[in-house]
Amino acid sequence: MGWSSWNSLGEGVSYDVIRTEADGLAALNTHITSGARYEYVNIDEGWWRSGQRDESGNFIVDTTQWPGGMRAIARYIHDKGLKAGIYIDAGPQGCGKRPDGTHFVGSDFAHYDHDFLQFAQWGFDFVKVDFCGGLSKNYDPETTYRAIAQAIRRAHSQTGRLMTFSLCDGGMIPTSKLFPDYGEGPWVWGAGVGTMWRTTRDITPDFGSVTYNLAGNYHPDGQHTGYYNDPDMMVAAMGMSAVHDQAHVSLWAIAGAPMILGNDLAKRLAADTARLLTNPEVLAIDQDALGLQGLLVAQSGSQQIWAKLLAGTGQRAVVLFNNSTTDAQMVVTWDALGLVPSSQASVRDVWTRKDLGRFTASYTAPDVPAGGVTMLTVSGTETAPVAWEPGPLTGTATYSRCPACQSGRKITHLGTASFRGSVSTARGGFVEIGYINDGVQTAYAQLAMNGKRPTTLAFPPTGGDDGRLGAVTVYVPYEPGSNTLALSNADPSIPAPDIGYVVTVGGPVPLASAISTAH
Ligand code: GLA
Repeated sequence: MGWSSWNSLGEGVSYDVIRTEADGLAALNTHITSGARYEYVNIDEGWWRSGQRDESGNFIVDTTQWPGGMRAIARYIHDKGLKAGIYIDAGPQGCGKRPDGTHFVGSDFAHYDHDFLQFAQWGFDFVKVDFCGGLSKNYDPETTYRAIAQAIRRAHSQTGRLMTFSLCDGGMIPTSKLFPDYGEGPWVWGAGVGTMWRTTRDITPDFGSVTYNLAGNYHPDGQHTGYYNDPDMMVAAMGMSAVHDQAHVSLWAIAGAPMILGNDLAKRLAADTARLLTNPEVLAIDQDALGLQGLLVAQSGSQQIWAKLLAGTGQRAVVLFNNSTTDAQMVVTWDALGLVPSSQASVRDVWTRKDLGRFTASYTAPDVPAGGVTMLTVSGTETAPVAWEPGPLTGTATYSRCPACQSGRKITHLGTASFRGSVSTARGGFVEIGYINDGVQTAYAQLAMNGKRPTTLAFPPTGGDDGRLGAVTVYVPYEPGSNTLALSNADPSIPAPDIGYVVTVGGPVPLASAISTAH
């Protein structure tokens, strides 16, 4: 969660302007009564106006624009208790142009190590890397962003500062067969490279653009455990109607998308704008610990129902989205949410912050406004988890004793561990992976479904030396019938988790036709 300069300031960034916006973000945070707060103040294109480097390759920064250099603005932002972000292009030219028609300047392979070390040394915590210059050079997105990820890792080991890496190639799908990511967007390979990746074109402050980016951002099997599809910075409070603004915030939250505001926080915010941007229940849905993307579970004409699996037993978030021109009644069933269909569940309206009561099998929202939403949490009864059967282990993988595991054993030293599971009709759903990571660093593994291209999963430390299990929940694109899920070590030089079990868990049931499968 944070704010970025681009949507309201364009290239008009400077120490004074960013300072005022950071003050605005800190003030906005005071309205949040509990839970997640806005953190990042991100400076987008326009900070490096000279485009010049000195003879050592260092950026020549205009000290009229940035008195005290970039270090000073990063320090100001930190002093507000916030984190600082910066921006560069992956190739030699930026996207934007100066008034004289020449392009801003970017980084490039020869500069990556130097530039990302410099950003870390200046104190930045986040870096967005655009691809206009990459495109102009016909660079391959995956190869390029992997090289930058390496530079960011090296900068981390040299400075102790690990920058959050935001990829911005607009969801480019290379058409050259020479590229490893031929035919695939960053949602396929982005996990493990960066923290977030843009999936679509630039957003503009109109509702058609909001719904276009929402649709293009729908890649639920790319998003998990700290890796996020990014439908772009937000355009709330930038001129759309109040109903559309509320729908926009709700749809970004149900998508579990980065909530990077774009409105001008130097202006005094109206009370209803502050309420829109600081509802703790909506922010908690966005920032839910499982980090999953909400699924489209029902669609009829211009009405859609989105649902997100939340941490905790039987917890779901729901957005009833009525993108038609008349107010409408909309019904969500427990079946679509993956709860026991005929059970009772408690329903709460998160915008009005009122409990609506307990309902059996479904809830009917009486009046979803035209162009708007009703946003709910539903707390109901889970279906029983179904175990996946461990199959052959290959490579170094072996079983070892595990007192904390139900089966009494775990798989260590990946290798590859395969699991077989059967599903009746569903296409895609959620699995929980029970694991142990008794190290102090995040461990990684690759998950491949049915032999397709794998995605990277992150396994945070499980803590303690008592061998306790943690769990990571992932959306996987399984098929009706028999499926194979393989977990492999990502790279022998980085730790992999020990695996205790894999089970199918209940969760929203996706509309099959809506998923453009990522793998
Ligand atoms: C591209 C990006 C935007 C913004 C501009 C800056 O268009 O997609 O988010 O960073 O460049 O020029």
